[in-house]
Amino acid sequence: MTARYEQSAALYERALARIVGGVNSPARSFKSVGGGPPVFMMRGQGPYLYDADGNRYIDYIGAFGAGMFGHGHPEIAAAIARAAERGTIYGTPNPWEVELAERIHAALPSMERVRFVTTGTEAVMSAVRVARAFTGRPKIIKMEGCYHGHSDFALIAAGSGPSQLGTPDSAGVTEGVARDVITVPYNDLRSLEEALDAWGPQVAAVLLEPIVGNFGVAHPRPGYLDGVRRLAHQHGALLIFDEIITGFRVAYGGAQTLLGVEPDLTTLGKIIGGGLPLAAYGGRAEIMDWVAPLGPAYQAGTLAGNPLSMQAALAALEVLARPGVYEQLEADAAYLADGLVASARRHGHAVQLGRAGSMFTLFFCDEPVVDYRTAQRSDPERFAAMFRGLLDRGIALAPSRFEAWMLSVQHTRADLEETLQIADEVFAEM
Ligand SMILES: Cc1ncc(COP(=O)(O)O)c(C=O)c1O
Repeated sequence: MTARYEQSAALYERALARIVGGVNSPARSFKSVGGGPPVFMMRGQGPYLYDADGNRYIDYIGAFGAGMFGHGHPEIAAAIARAAERGTIYGTPNPWEVELAERIHAALPSMERVRFVTTGTEAVMSAVRVARAFTGRPKIIKMEGCYHGHSDFALIAAGSGPSQLGTPDSAGVTEGVARDVITVPYNDLRSLEEALDAWGPQVAAVLLEPIVGNFGVAHPRPGYLDGVRRLAHQHGALLIFDEIITGFRVAYGGAQTLLGVEPDLTTLGKIIGGGLPLAAYGGRAEIMDWVAPLGPAYQAGTLAGNPLSMQAALAALEVLARPGVYEQLEADAAYLADGLVASARRHGHAVQLGRAGSMFTLFFCDEPVVDYRTAQRSDPERFAAMFRGLLDRGIALAPSRFEAWMLSVQHTRADLEETLQIADEVFAEM
């Protein structure tokens, strides 16, 4: 540990005694990049984070996708300050939740009715419950390497083949839960078909990230999402798109409007809160009307739809709805990602790029990444070397080869140029 990270190291020592593993989410740990203290950040401003030792970083962690606005965005910060003065929680309906539901419907027309919840985990868990209630069926098919939060069913790994049920991927998840989950490879319609042939009448829903963010960024093959939709519906199952990363990231209307495939249910999170805890699930009215108090599927939340998150969200969507925002993000991300690929290759590193709008992953491998199996070929050691080299020079990435670089509306061309120059030094040294 160098003097550069002295305060972070001291905080980590204290954290280890009282916070499990020293972190409040395992994805923040540096376990997969060689271990040691993670960097403790104390301040964010625009595209920058500042750590407890006063070091500045250009932030590409982007709070794992939530940080679309950079830090302390003036309009969002002002909306939060105004809202805080009027009271942060009422425990009653409020006008802002109505407006937000309307704006979400305008952006993603498939979300005819929504419910606001607090985390992505809760959104997916609730969407799955409604799908089960509506269809009267127990099983869920999901895709290998897609992440849907940490509720029990979401932590079931693949069985040995598409017609096999899954096995718990975490201690504390029961075999009983695993009996209701089947996991098939992403981008593989044949495996999905086989799973539906084996279990069809019991399958409530097929759940996936329409564009993947969780084994690095990977695109659906042409026709894949249409095929998933057709197969699900042929077997009487619902289609759930988990757009917790892609919603308002790859396009204002998410992957579903970008790619023109309409799911029955959608989950949103991360970006929609404008930096505050907020997620949502929703979809066709006839399905969502199964939720209490209209229907028998129970779902509730003390913090749900709180006026603080709602007003932050409205300010955030206002920023994103402006003309040219996504075009600028697209151009900036292409500039940065293509520059990184060229620089890595110039220094003899085999890399593959997965990019969707303002999020992208550099995979250290020879073959394009199309599913979890191909993503795993990305060399962990080379990723760790890049990660450390960048961190030591003031560029912060999420500490995993399966995460994405996230751009915000506050990154400037000067930040991107600085990043490319530093990355070139790092690639030369690796
Ligand atoms: C696609 C997707 N779904 C669900 C979740 C879970 O969201 P949360 O961490 O807010 O519970 C995540 C979080 O990374 C995610 O990326």
